[in-house]
Amino acid sequence: MATASENLTIVVVGASGDLARKKVIPALFGLYCQGFLPTKFRIFGFARTAMTSEEFRARAVENLTCRYVPGESCAQKMDEFLARCFYVQGPYASRDSFLDLFQAMQAEEGDEPADRLFYLAIPPSVFLDVSRAIGDAGLVQCGDRRPWSRVVVEKPFGRDRASSDALVAQLGHVFTEGQTYRIDHYLGKEVIQNLLVLRFANLIFEPIWNREHVQSVQISWQEDIGTAGRGGYFDSYGIIRDVVQNHLLQIVALTAMEPPQSLNAQHIRDAKVAVLRSVPPVSRDQIVVGQYARTVRDGFDLPGYRDDSGVEDDSITPTFAQVLLHVRNPRWEGIPFLLHAGKAMDEKKTEVRIRFKNVPGNMFCSEGTCPAPNELVICIQPDEGIQLRVANKVPGLGMTLEQQSLDLNYHAAFNRVIPQAYEALLLDALRGDKGLFVRDDELSAAWDIFTPILKELESHRAIPEPYAIGSTGPDAAQRLRRAVQESV
Ligand code: NDP
Ligand code: BG6
Repeated sequence: MATASENLTIVVVGASGDLARKKVIPALFGLYCQGFLPTKFRIFGFARTAMTSEEFRARAVENLTCRYVPGESCAQKMDEFLARCFYVQGPYASRDSFLDLFQAMQAEEGDEPADRLFYLAIPPSVFLDVSRAIGDAGLVQCGDRRPWSRVVVEKPFGRDRASSDALVAQLGHVFTEGQTYRIDHYLGKEVIQNLLVLRFANLIFEPIWNREHVQSVQISWQEDIGTAGRGGYFDSYGIIRDVVQNHLLQIVALTAMEPPQSLNAQHIRDAKVAVLRSVPPVSRDQIVVGQYARTVRDGFDLPGYRDDSGVEDDSITPTFAQVLLHVRNPRWEGIPFLLHAGKAMDEKKTEVRIRFKNVPGNMFCSEGTCPAPNELVICIQPDEGIQLRVANKVPGLGMTLEQQSLDLNYHAAFNRVIPQAYEALLLDALRGDKGLFVRDDELSAAWDIFTPILKELESHRAIPEPYAIGSTGPDAAQRLRRAVQESV
């Protein structure tokens, strides 16, 4: 299926940056290779860095891959794609620089009206300046009808509830809510999209997906690298704003929500908002924060977070957070949702772990030891898959039980390329499908959960507990985890 546009211009603001280069442009190439872009399309990179279109193409090509067109035709596809990439340089808060962009766009768009997608791949501090300048330069076409204009805005969207509301209102002067696509790229990840299918297209899970049968839900997000040069950005946001308030809460919402009325974007987002609104704000005893410290390992001196360029020597920005959430509704009352997110940890992994209760009166318990409870493990990355941990008899003449996995591994099961999250989301934005984008009330509900604790941690200058690079996080986090497990 091609996108509805016949004539399409995509503007990537912040085109000199990491996200544009590594994710957005390669995702657009992926869509081009699969025939999802119309015959008449063009991509304009825009940023302050001085660069010619030729130099922009030379940078872009470094991150394009032949996943969809292996073999010799790939080089030809790349050449065709790059020929439609252009670059315009200018300051962000300037109407004139966007007028220059407008002129360059019109020269390529021809006489037919073109749909326009603006992708703001820039730090949140400049979202507003850029949007205003785009609006002042007359680049935004009004209304939902053709030719349309849409804006994709990256996260983090604001720093707390108040700044997020203000940003929503101010951006709303340029782009309507209908034209605004707030991206959370985790929603484009294949296994996360599959959560709806797993829960609602299979008979077996929904009857046990509740407080009667589930003991706890754990959502883990960890990276085995530190802030790696992004310290300047990270230090003013921290792990709660960077990952927990958005990526992890979206996973909570999809895991805990009631069945939506239909697959319609509005119904899915209504169901997510309802569950987020039933999560009370996090209090101090529900959170542990940490920061990775300089670590000596195998004779190597590994720089800590505070050694990253752009990070203050006395920074108290957390690079790790463990949070206990309660979902106060009839389905989940009393069931702990334990979230943890950390940089520079022992491994790269994102997963949802649903632990079920023990079998009541289990006849296989012996001398006080019972078989481990069932667990459903949804592996989001790096190895996409789903495992159901079940008790099983070890083959042999005795009755010994062992927990084993019923294992779905995506790469083994599906002989196909798994799309990148940004491909899925860009395609939806081009089609005008908002189901995987964050609505304004969803954003507010997510900020309400974390705004009070962020204020408390910051106003009291709470010192994050140091942890070693390559570890499982601060000791206090292990203690909170144990306390939660013992309490259920
Ligand atoms: P970068 O720091 O690479 O910034 C992108 C571009 O914005 C830079 O090339 C620079 O372009 C311009 N820029 C940088 N700092 C400033 C500043 N202080 N004032 C004005 N312009 C500035 O960011 P990323 O590309 O990593 O991220 C862009 C957005 O995407 C952010 O909101 C980030 O949170 C989000 N994001 C990033 C991800 C990633 O993987 N990188 C993943 C998910 C979200 P120039 O100087 O040429 O104008
Ligand atoms: C971004 C965060 O949103 O997600 C980064 O800003 C993080 O800090 C990144 O590294 C992780 O994305 P992915 O898709 O590599 O898991």
